[in-house]
Amino acid sequence: MIDRYAVVGNPVAHSRSPEIHAAFARATGEELSYERLLAPLDAFATTVEAFARSGGKGVNVTVPFKVEALGLARDLTERARLAGAVNTLRRDGDFWCGDNTDGAGLVRDLCVNRGVVLTDREVLVLGAGGAVRGILGPLLATSPRTLVIANRSAVKAQALAVQFVSHGPIVALSIDQLAGRRFDVVINGTSAGLDPADDVARPMVDLAAGGLGCDLVYGESSYAFQRWAKARGAARVHDGLGMLIEQAAESFLFWRGVRPETGPLLASLSASR
Ligand code: ATR
Repeated sequence: MIDRYAVVGNPVAHSRSPEIHAAFARATGEELSYERLLAPLDAFATTVEAFARSGGKGVNVTVPFKVEALGLARDLTERARLAGAVNTLRRDGDFWCGDNTDGAGLVRDLCVNRGVVLTDREVLVLGAGGAVRGILGPLLATSPRTLVIANRSAVKAQALAVQFVSHGPIVALSIDQLAGRRFDVVINGTSAGLDPADDVARPMVDLAAGGLGCDLVYGESSYAFQRWAKARGAARVHDGLGMLIEQAAESFLFWRGVRPETGPLLASLSASR
């Protein structure tokens, strides 16, 4: 029986992971299938266990199950433990091993694909939810000068800063305290855009010369943030497509022991939209 993989979420119909993993499988010669699995909101664990019984060897986990997936895993990689969230599960015998490839995917897209320097730079992360938990450890590992985290609910940003402070120079500021500060890189990890038409607290920060605005989400959901970042002076903006492809490559490596090349797929998916 062919090894089966899936992305599990709710909703999941929009996910581009099946086409990404199909391309990786073709490129590496790995034989596998990859599908979408819609889990009822109250039945993540039973959906994933049923998938394992029918030959499932691994799953990608997306909204809103990344924290629940942590509890399902018997074993965790260090970065999943640190993130407190799991986006990749691998079946090891009768158990699941959980990993979190989101942050590694983001950092690889920024630093390798786009030549962005994070070391000794001022970096701002907006948001303090599940998506942000996954990226803080890998971002701090690049040794930014300061990693500022800010969120609508300031207390959640403060809690994350406390949790990650032993990993690098992370500081929580309120949205108001951001006014007038200048950053080299601004990363949007909120689930809301920053469109002037939205009811969103818009931080009055400036982007340094050559500064970059990047989103963790891809496609249309990212347009409002990209407009906002340009208006604040960003020289470059992009969405999370590169991160999506890179985190998928890390998952593929975790499952199959081989890391697919990402450049060709990033080029073709970027060109086709
Ligand atoms: P995800 O898994 O995508 O991170 P989440 O855990 O629900 O989803 O987190 C959503 C993030 O987007 C939070 O940081 C949230 O801010 P709050 O903690 O204050 O709720 C942020 N967010 C969502 N809607 C927002 C809005 N209209 N304005 C500002 N921030 C918003």
